[in-house]
Amino acid sequence: MLTTYCHTYSLSTVVANRPTAKAMDISSLPRIDVSSTVYSERYAVYIAYSNKVKMMEWISDRFDEEITYHLPNNGDLKLSILGIGSGDGKFEVKMIMKLKKKFRLIDCTVVEPSAERMASYRKLVKDEKNALFGVTFDWRQETFQEFCKANPDRSKKFHFVSLIHCAYYIHKRDLDYYMDVITRWTEGKILIMQDADVSIFGLLDKKFPGVYNGLRPLILGDTIMDSFKTLGMSFETSSLPCELDITACFDNDSRDGKLLLDFLLQVVGLVDDGPPEALKMVKEFLKSEGFSYTRNGRNWVENPTQVIIITPTSRKM
Ligand SMILES: C[S@@+](CC[C@H](N)C(=O)[O-])C[C@H]1O[C@@H](n2cnc3c(N)ncnc32)[C@H](O)[C@@H]1O
Repeated sequence: MLTTYCHTYSLSTVVANRPTAKAMDISSLPRIDVSSTVYSERYAVYIAYSNKVKMMEWISDRFDEEITYHLPNNGDLKLSILGIGSGDGKFEVKMIMKLKKKFRLIDCTVVEPSAERMASYRKLVKDEKNALFGVTFDWRQETFQEFCKANPDRSKKFHFVSLIHCAYYIHKRDLDYYMDVITRWTEGKILIMQDADVSIFGLLDKKFPGVYNGLRPLILGDTIMDSFKTLGMSFETSSLPCELDITACFDNDSRDGKLLLDFLLQVVGLVDDGPPEALKMVKEFLKSEGFSYTRNGRNWVENPTQVIIITPTSRKM
């Protein structure tokens, strides 16, 4: 059954839908290479100013009910799980710890192309070795696309697959194919978290069409849900009301502000090397009424995360 609990963010959506006065051209700036430390630095700042704690709260409060209790009812089974784009593993390890309460043995395959992030994940596993007793890891430093190519006829099924904020790196034209692969590999639950259409990225994309060239068309929550509709699969979805503190973006001397603006536009050097006109347009948009708001002297924007849960056995075709 399809259950939708989407919040509407009417003011922000109205602002983003206003006709774009002028196209913004930042094509002279390098795109962030997602496997580099340049990306890691900017992502760390983005996370520091995000209340992604909502995602941690979801894992603490909802994960068991939405995922754990639906997995095989046999605690002696060795649970097989797959993490795609796992990053430094902070969210994944939290989920594994939840699963550990029910399953003594867990076999976790980690697909993450960045060597640096995988090293951080491995360190976290080492630091938490007591809590993770009984969990084995198969480290795959590669992209999901490479992992799929190397395992075309995979027969061993996963009981649980997670993609937490990583489906941006699948090209839209390939999305249905990869979502189909994931569902065929899974016999339990799939958890996807992705920026919602009314997240800051979705609204910047609407306001400045083409700004994300190279990464785009931008994959957002709705794009993923459309893909499962195309595949004839039902899913459950909800929206986590995350926020982002953008105050630093308005301080020209703030290093964090520079890195955060870079992350929002997925480029390197917007403040110091970018066209001044583009910087002005972005800042005006971020400050515009109905888009950001002030609380405790800080500027905030809504930046919801879409949670999508798929049960592959619901496939109709
Ligand atoms: C926004 S981060 C999210 C990391 C982690 N899941 C989290 O929520 O903290 C996106 C991650 O996807 C990884 N990634 C990029 N391209 C990928 C691809 N083609 N396949 C799998 N992962 C990819 C990046 O290296 C990065 O660690």
